[in-house]
Amino acid sequence: MLEQLEQLYQQALAEIEQITDAESLRAWEIGYLGKKGSITQMLRSTGQLPPEQRASFGKRANQIKLDLTAAYEAREKLVREQALARDLEEGQVDVTLPGRARPTGGLHPSTQILRQLYAIWAEMGFQVYRSRDVEDDDTNFTLLNIPPHHPARDMWDTFYTTTPGVILRTHTSPGQIHAMRDLGGNGTQPIRVILPGMCYRYEQVTARSEMQFHQLEGLAIGRSIRMSDLKGTITAFAHRMYGAHAAVRFRASYFPFTEPSMEVDVECFLCGGKGCRVCKYAGWLEIAGAGMVHPEVLRNGGYDPTVWSGFAFGMGPERMAMLKYRISDIRYFWQNDLRFLEQF
Ligand code: PHE
Repeated sequence: MLEQLEQLYQQALAEIEQITDAESLRAWEIGYLGKKGSITQMLRSTGQLPPEQRASFGKRANQIKLDLTAAYEAREKLVREQALARDLEEGQVDVTLPGRARPTGGLHPSTQILRQLYAIWAEMGFQVYRSRDVEDDDTNFTLLNIPPHHPARDMWDTFYTTTPGVILRTHTSPGQIHAMRDLGGNGTQPIRVILPGMCYRYEQVTARSEMQFHQLEGLAIGRSIRMSDLKGTITAFAHRMYGAHAAVRFRASYFPFTEPSMEVDVECFLCGGKGCRVCKYAGWLEIAGAGMVHPEVLRNGGYDPTVWSGFAFGMGPERMAMLKYRISDIRYFWQNDLRFLEQF
């Protein structure tokens, strides 16, 4: 039996030398070393030998099994390497093929306009200050000089929550109060910030009005800020946004939290002021509400209005995007229709 074992061993070694593919190698392994393989069976029949031969036979059979296992592993590695080399040679992996492009998302038109605004205002020294979307009635109205039951509250249709006094902000102006109280050092520090964010109004949704939209508020507080500073700052902004030659005009208006108040128009950049459908043949486009911060509001922010003054403005990024890209219906903005979003 020992002789038979040695013969099998030599045969197995000779065979494996000839093997060049994974399939034959697997067959070889099953044939010799598998559960019913010939070497395995030899080992199993050790018990049938006369007792004095068992030990030396078993020892030798185990040694052979180890040898063949090692031979198998070495061959397996060789076959794998050869297969890879062959694949590369035959060009099954064409490393010159272009990769598959992955679709990437884009930025929402509102985000694009907001980022443009951040960049321009940063250039002019205004930092971003984030204020909350969920406000209290006091900060959204009363502290901005709009007392309860004052008819001016009609200017903002409000979403109320089930918690009394808690509302969704109708504009970013309550952020003025937060910024002054937070950054003002009890009315001792100047401030120059922009406050971007979503606003909410309980309004009929139409092509021209949505129940949610962004505003970008601006606030500057200092010891000698005058209306000429407001006009100059807004004009510098408009020139950066709409071109160095865009004309700007200020119209008297009313907001309870600014005095005096104004609305800002920029010469229609589509028709150059000649009149077109976008500017409704007026030649001007409204871009912001603005004014000098009301003394009452300064006081509510912790400032002494006899020493400090400031200006504020509020602009609508969606309105600006609509004008820039000639979007005719504001409802497109939050419908998440890819046919719309993919155009920007
Ligand atoms: N908050 C005002 C609005 O929503 C805009 C505004 C901001 C006006 C700041 C003046 C100063 O209509």
